[in-house]
Amino acid sequence: MEIKNICCIGAGYVGGPTMSVIASQCPHLRITVVDSNPERIDAWNGPDLNKLPIYEPGLAEVVAEARGRNLFFSKDIDRAILEADMIFISVNTPTKTYGKGKGMAADLKFVESCARQIAAVATSDKIVVEKSTIPVRTASSIKNILTQADGGQSGGQSGGQAGGQAGGRTGRGINFHVLSNPEFLSEGTAVQDLLKPDRVLIGGDNEEAIQALTAIYAHWVPAERIITTNLWSAELSKLTANAFLAQRVSSINAISELCEATGADVDEVARAVGADSRIGPKFLKASVGFGGSCFQKDILNLVYIARSYQLHAVADYWEQVILLNRHQRRRFADKIVRTLYDTVSGKKIAFLGWAFKKDTNDSRESAAIYVADALLAEEAEITVYDPKVSPERIYADLDALGSRSPEENRRLLKIEKDPYDTMKGAYAIAVLTEWDEFKMYDWPRVYQNMQKPAFVFDGRRLLDAQKMESIGFDYYAIGGGSPQDL
Ligand code: UDX
Ligand code: UDX
Repeated sequence: MEIKNICCIGAGYVGGPTMSVIASQCPHLRITVVDSNPERIDAWNGPDLNKLPIYEPGLAEVVAEARGRNLFFSKDIDRAILEADMIFISVNTPTKTYGKGKGMAADLKFVESCARQIAAVATSDKIVVEKSTIPVRTASSIKNILTQADGGQSGGQSGGQAGGQAGGRTGRGINFHVLSNPEFLSEGTAVQDLLKPDRVLIGGDNEEAIQALTAIYAHWVPAERIITTNLWSAELSKLTANAFLAQRVSSINAISELCEATGADVDEVARAVGADSRIGPKFLKASVGFGGSCFQKDILNLVYIARSYQLHAVADYWEQVILLNRHQRRRFADKIVRTLYDTVSGKKIAFLGWAFKKDTNDSRESAAIYVADALLAEEAEITVYDPKVSPERIYADLDALGSRSPEENRRLLKIEKDPYDTMKGAYAIAVLTEWDEFKMYDWPRVYQNMQKPAFVFDGRRLLDAQKMESIGFDYYAIGGGSPQDL
């Protein structure tokens, strides 16, 4: 199977950067990225590369090189499907907000509609690649839709244990092969992660299809880093990888509370623990809680799947990772209220950061949203500064919680463009994202312009404790002690 034309459905945080990097590394491939949202496509095609729909360091350069050469962003989904030899599905798979599995299971309606559209439009053989994170065994549903939408035959026992054939021939004689190729990129470092992945994972049951996708990655990824497995292992590995990563954050965050109670310093503990080569130093930074579109969604999904197999001990175990994360956000907000003499009503509290981590404009599931919500419930007046997240996004995040009316959210929470205006007159500063620029501020100037005592609640352990205290701040870092770089 020689691949010349690739289509990717979903021009989001995963589809956009992934296809841009494939295009830059494989100039011989023609790659068309489509999206059901025409404005997103316009934004990808816009003349100003600083205004791409997502912000990722290094992405603008990659897009500049490949766009118009072999990378295209198009609104014509049918045509892109028709022309492609290989189709990546990279649409979102949010947690269900309705019906069975509400609040837990992944909502696969977008994945299903992609499969139906491919089935309806295709006139030649296709390799369909699951890029989106999906529940284990989704490939068999995709295969069924692809092959049976026009009355054809699916290739295998979708209910089987060992991984039935995820391919088949339709009534019109078209062959479909389904592969799972989960994406492990991390936002903020997406381009680097894609250029130098720890591993590329390809799950499938058709050797030719696996080889066709392997050959693409082999243009820049060393062969030993390309792992092939059966479909269900690949699907489950993605959920498991995210669950393990989130578990590490919840583990260190659980210890952070104990550090505060005992006088230990969580960075010192993390350094000592992480020096054990079996544990390793990464992903041990205590924080106000993990966010992002994946961790919570994927663990909830894992819990849901485990429960659906009656594996309640497994489900309970992983659910704790989420519960601890919620607790961490909550206790940070509680700490602010308690420290401000048990009332924040009418007090200005400055938020530094809204994104779920630095170097991204993404705020999905950001801890900042939940800390803000808890403080607004106490009638605090919040002012937010984030270098990349748009005001519309910030208000949309809060409105989505439904805790109060949109008018009320806009009355109580203001968004500033200038960090010094954000902090002027504030009773407290809360650091919610670890943006580097926060470390560079003229902190004596900030102190001068604040109410006294001037409290700083560092939910990222970002600032220099000694320096802040010497200026006069009442400085608190989540996890106690003095923050240090890990
Ligand atoms: C999403 C999921 O969050 C993640 O679990 C999965 O691994 C990949 O997809 P992300 O790229 O961050 O990740 O999502 P998002 O930025 O929302 O992009 C999805 C895109 O798909 C959106 O641009 C949306 O408009 C588009 N889409 C959605 C379609 O083109 N068709 C649809 O039917 C639904
Ligand atoms: C994650 C996975 O890392 C990636 O492999 C997968 O493809 C998608 O989900 P992402 O959500 O983009 O990526 O960012 P990540 O760097 O993993 O951070 C997730 C959250 O955990 C952030 O809110 C981050 O601030 C937090 N975190 C991470 C910590 O609080 N402490 C840490 O030590 C590491």
